[in-house]
Amino acid sequence: MSAATVHVVAMTDAHLDALLPYEREMFGTEAWSRAGYRSELADTRRRHYVAAEDVERALLGWVFFFFFWETSEIFTVGVVPHARRRGIARALVADLLAEARRRGADEAFLEVRVDNPAARTLYATEGFAEIGVRRGYYDGGRVDAVTMRKELAP
Ligand SMILES: CC(C)(COP(=O)(O)OP(=O)(O)OC[C@H]1O[C@@H](n2cnc3c(N)ncnc32)[C@H](O)[C@@H]1OP(=O)(O)O)[C@@H](O)C(=O)NCCC(=O)NCCS
Repeated sequence: MSAATVHVVAMTDAHLDALLPYEREMFGTEAWSRAGYRSELADTRRRHYVAAEDVERALLGWVFFFFFWETSEIFTVGVVPHARRRGIARALVADLLAEARRRGADEAFLEVRVDNPAARTLYATEGFAEIGVRRGYYDGGRVDAVTMRKELAP
C-alpha cells in the first residue's frame, strides 16, 4: 500500500464504531471497552493516539502510546486483517517513536504476548530488544508477556 493511499491522522471518538469490533476480534478478553477508549482519548497530555485511514477514510489501523516523563510505552497496535503486511503497523510505530522523541522521551517500552510472533517480529525489526518476561500477564494468568525496550536517540 503506497503512502498516498494511507493517511495517519489523530484518533478520535469517531473511529470507535469501526474500531471496537476489530478490537474484540483481535484482543478477546483483553479488549478495551468504548468507555475505556473514551477516557484514554480524553487524556491528550500523557497519551498519543493515531489511526491509519484509506482514501475513503475507512479505518486501517491504530496505535496507542503513553508518556511518563522520559519514559514512554506502546499500549497496543492493531491493523485490520485485510490491510496487513503492507507496512501500516511499521508506519504507525515510526510515527509514535517520532512523537516520543519530540516530547523528550529517551526510551520506549512495551509488553507483547509470547504467543504473538507477528508483533514480536514487528517490534524487533523496529529496534526493540527483549529485556524480560512477565509470567501470566495475559488471559487470567495463562499467557506470559515479553517486555521489550528501545532507546530513543534525540
Ligand atoms: C501485529 C500487526 C499489528 C502487524 O501489522 P502489519 O501492518 O501487518 O505489519 P507491517 O506490515 O507493518 O509489518 C512490519 C513487519 O512486522 C513483521 N510482521 C508483521 N506481520 C507478521 C507476521 N504475520 N508474521 C511474521 N512477521 C510479521 C515483519 O517483519 C514485517 O515486515 P515485512 O512485511 O517487511 O516482513 C497485525 O498483525 C495485527 O494487528 N495483529 C493483531 C493485533 C496484535 O497482535 N497487535 C499487537 C499486540 S500489541
